[in-house]
Amino acid sequence: MPAGDAAMIQVDRVSKSFPVYAKPHHRLMQMLLPASERRWYKEFHALSGIDFRVPRGQTVGIVGRNGSGKSTLLQIICGTLTPSAGDVRVQGRVAALLELGAGFAPDFTGRENVYLNATVLGLTRAEVDACFDDIAAFADIGEFIEQPVKTYSSGMYVRLAFAVAIHVKPDVLVIDEALAVGDEAFQRKCFARIEAIRAAGATVLFVSHSAGTVIDLCDRAILIDGGELIADGPPKQVVGLYQKLLYTPADRAREVREQIRAGTATLLAGEGSSKAAAAGTVAAVPAPGGSGPEPYLDEAMRPSSTLSYERRGARIENARLCTLAGQPVNVLAAGREYVYRYSVDFEGAAAGVRMGMMMRTLTGVEVCGAATATPENALAAVAAGERIEVEFKFRCMLAPGTYFLNAGVLGRLAEGETYLDRRIDVAMFRVMPDAHRLGTGLVDMDVTAHVRHS
Ligand SMILES: Nc1ncnc2c1ncn2[C@@H]1O[C@H](COP(=O)(O)OP(=O)(O)O)[C@@H](O)[C@H]1O
Ligand SMILES: [Mg+2]
Repeated sequence: MPAGDAAMIQVDRVSKSFPVYAKPHHRLMQMLLPASERRWYKEFHALSGIDFRVPRGQTVGIVGRNGSGKSTLLQIICGTLTPSAGDVRVQGRVAALLELGAGFAPDFTGRENVYLNATVLGLTRAEVDACFDDIAAFADIGEFIEQPVKTYSSGMYVRLAFAVAIHVKPDVLVIDEALAVGDEAFQRKCFARIEAIRAAGATVLFVSHSAGTVIDLCDRAILIDGGELIADGPPKQVVGLYQKLLYTPADRAREVREQIRAGTATLLAGEGSSKAAAAGTVAAVPAPGGSGPEPYLDEAMRPSSTLSYERRGARIENARLCTLAGQPVNVLAAGREYVYRYSVDFEGAAAGVRMGMMMRTLTGVEVCGAATATPENALAAVAAGERIEVEFKFRCMLAPGTYFLNAGVLGRLAEGETYLDRRIDVAMFRVMPDAHRLGTGLVDMDVTAHVRHS
């Protein structure tokens, strides 16, 4: 096959099912009695008939709701999972950043893991020697490089894994949402390197929750839902379909999925003219309903950059966002009210106690801070063993994007007002885009526009 035609990634009718056991002991029964009449599990179809090819040099974004099968697909492509049916072929050296936990040996040091990993990817020892310093510098985890990987924070882990992945000059780079873990400065550094890797002709497969990233970075996007590929086309259109699906109430999801699939059929029929194809996709999607998206809880979304300061007699616990009805959420609809809650356990007696919060963007811009009281109005005394529940109610007037929350308890000590406990990035949330909102910029100030046309 001429090199130009060869797909770097070829996925042919791939399906994957997992056995699901209703009760833990059923797994044991199945192991003990594999030949018995009864089957002790049900098949769960995580992927069904996935079919696509990625030509050399293309960057493809994979989007889909939680649990739709994205990670399973990437693991099959990287060979860490075998498909139940179908075939996958990948050409060249594949460097992968899969979900946390994959790839490193926990008891070995960072340095040892760099060697292990790079060698598995086909580098000789001399080649690793030559790029080790660059890898360490890129990861920028200091002395931790000599510590066992099990002592790493998830942020450090991703830094090192990414540093290895981009220094082995991969032909195919596969990334599963891993970048969401690093801090913003590191993310920027990573995106710059992905650009360089793309420019060098590599093929990139990329799972991301960030619509902006997929649109900015990818040549093409694929939408997976319920284990099926339901859209494949220009990133902007596919991301639009994904968001449409994301904000559809559960009872209408199936219907919308079928509409999207019908649109994709149009898109595939119109192959060759991507403009016509894109228009076909969009036409298949009805305008969003008037009520706007509903907030919900994305269990997988947790900050990994949480930083705890040294405690001085108080402990912040259970920081979370809720709707006014008390339902925990972290994906918010703009324009509505929410409550940011946490509790504080006092291990020692404290005086002059007040609590605070801060909301920051991914880049660290302080969007909004608040406190329960001024220093003069602080709680005079709290006894050891007491617990205080704090609530900050707010209306979410923020632009779509990801935000982080801090929590802090202040008390009066001999040296003055001091933090008794302080957590940076203790919780995070996302604000969903809403086609009905006209504001741009970070904060929606409820601007009313008037036009006089004379
Ligand atoms: N080892 C497994 N056993 C059983 N079910 C699994 C296993 N791995 C994944 N699943 C299920 O397969 C579905 C797809 O999972 P995943 O690929 O992780 O989705 P995504 O990455 O899109 O969130 C989910 O419903 C998940 O619970
Ligand atoms: Mg996943």
